[in-house]
Amino acid sequence: MFGVLANKAPIYNEKQRNGLRAAGRFNAELMDYIRQFVVPGVTTGELDRLVYEYTIEHGHRPACLGYQGFPRTICTSVNDVVCHGIPDDTELTDGDIVNIDLTTVVHGWYGDSSETFLIGKVSDDVRRLVQVTFDAMFVGIRTLRPHGRVIDIGRAIVEFVRPYGYGVVEKYQGHGIGRQFHQEPGIPHFPHRSMARVPLRPGMCFTIEPMLNAGSHQTADADADGWTVRTKDGSLSAQFEHTVLMTEDGPEILTLTQHGPQEGHVF
Ligand code: MF3
Ligand code: CO
Ligand code: CO
Repeated sequence: MFGVLANKAPIYNEKQRNGLRAAGRFNAELMDYIRQFVVPGVTTGELDRLVYEYTIEHGHRPACLGYQGFPRTICTSVNDVVCHGIPDDTELTDGDIVNIDLTTVVHGWYGDSSETFLIGKVSDDVRRLVQVTFDAMFVGIRTLRPHGRVIDIGRAIVEFVRPYGYGVVEKYQGHGIGRQFHQEPGIPHFPHRSMARVPLRPGMCFTIEPMLNAGSHQTADADADGWTVRTKDGSLSAQFEHTVLMTEDGPEILTLTQHGPQEGHVF
């Protein structure tokens, strides 16, 4: 997420993988819990409160709350917000898109995932951006091979997105995850040269979380709140995120939901 990291990442054994699986599973349950509330008229602050309470009631810990001073449990990124939007009293309204990014700590292990939701009836252009972003995440995931390279992910995503002309955000990226929120390896969603030699070893765990802008890939500096990142040109931005474990047999997606959009979903 923050900056490109070097070639060093933990390799998890079976017991540790089970810790990661449990964290991913709870995070997915949380996404399935909150989706019923993501409707026109709800405030992002209300969604934040619901996620906080569900997490605490289940004995787990919201990872974002207090992380580098972040003031809430979830990130809610509406329309031209690329990432790290802070929940507040903003009401979601017909035609909006909102990315809800959840991260939970379950018995010391982190799970991290996000979805972009369409609020009410959105325009065809908006729907296409969300569709291509969702598909781009799965293109990134399906390119994963044990002993492949991190650069394969960014190459596949950028190739897939090119015909649509959308900007693939470079400044924020996926990340290794485990007993820490953000660790090595960094996962750029574009083919960053330095990733050509970083291997995808069985036992590594990381997120794939492409952010696509309808216009330029560039992002503005954070708002005065210190967090909210918007597109530089004011265009819309969408994002999806899964936590993925590389196994000897290929990628295992740890944050798959029961009720959300499945691979191949048409928005
Ligand atoms: N969940 C975000 C990610 O995908 C990170 C949010 S950090 C916060 O990496 F502090 F803004 F919450
Ligand atoms: Co996230
Ligand atoms: Co993440």
